[in-house]
Amino acid sequence: MTSVTRDVFGNLPDGKTVEKFLLESNLVKAEIITFGCIITRLETKDRHGNFTDIVLGFDSIEGYLNKHPYFGAVVGRVANRIANGKFTVDGQDYQLPINNGPNSIHGGLKGFDKVLWKPKEVENGVQFSYTSSDGEEGYPGELEVWVTYTLVGSELTINYKARTTKTTPVNLTNHSYFNLAGQGSENIYDHEISITAEHYLPVDDTMIPTGEVAPVQGTSFDLRKPVDLGSQIPKLKGNGFDHNFCLNMNDLQHDCTRVYHKPSGRVLTVRTTQPGIQFYTANFLDGSLKGKDGAVYPKHSAFCLETQAWPDAVNKPQFPSVLLHPGQEYDQTTWFNFSVQ
Ligand code: BGC
Repeated sequence: MTSVTRDVFGNLPDGKTVEKFLLESNLVKAEIITFGCIITRLETKDRHGNFTDIVLGFDSIEGYLNKHPYFGAVVGRVANRIANGKFTVDGQDYQLPINNGPNSIHGGLKGFDKVLWKPKEVENGVQFSYTSSDGEEGYPGELEVWVTYTLVGSELTINYKARTTKTTPVNLTNHSYFNLAGQGSENIYDHEISITAEHYLPVDDTMIPTGEVAPVQGTSFDLRKPVDLGSQIPKLKGNGFDHNFCLNMNDLQHDCTRVYHKPSGRVLTVRTTQPGIQFYTANFLDGSLKGKDGAVYPKHSAFCLETQAWPDAVNKPQFPSVLLHPGQEYDQTTWFNFSVQ
């Protein structure tokens, strides 16, 4: 049985209350707030049965109101990058705010990570809803969105649903930063990862996919057999992993990613209905943020597994479509499972 308890987390500058929901099973404790649907704490057991918080974040609402790189949040209306913030739908051109080099990222200046969601308790969890108005952050159509977090035993499930009044791109994900050694640990070099993807998306120097769907075979992106991050990251040309892995479409909803932290025994496995996963090794963290319990977060002190549609898909007809049409329902699910080995 999962217990769900509700409390106050803090207040927004306009006085509105931010609530927190604690979902607790005998194996996992997850705290999620109504601001940005942010997972603020996630405690799982090590092989000795000790709980540790394994996600980066802040102790209070102030931290989440200041600039930060989407710790724990639901990201949308379109997660990841859209080239030059431009796209065309139904013959109409749209221009989004530019907030990442020449591109638009993670829903714009005030994306779904920075709004207050309406909560409703459901069996084993909580459902958050939000209505994004027609034209909000430059996107067409009024979009109603529901994000449901449920916890059963060792598994945290996130379901995303949406409906629109006009055709619009939609790409929703959760942007948690994990460190299986415990949040605040210096790096993730002692983590081992495998991702089943046979292809990944090479990017240009503004991090937009070139359009090529490249085989991982023979590259440092071949994670089909477990690799040690401490030895794999230095093999890459850039700063670390920040790439979309194309999941095998005939194998969706099977485990696509496994991360193992040998010293603690913690294992995280992921499965999803989404066609891709952005594996990001927190290359842009620089130790300047003051995190939970006095933690600082240097480069490579966490990893993100952002299950999602492929970046810039709205401008790349050869990628799986991200368009949601009126009358359709967007419905995607990701399962995070926590165990020990
Ligand atoms: C992107 C990174 C970015 C991070 C925080 C990730 O989804 O791929 O490049 O730094 O989000 O915005």
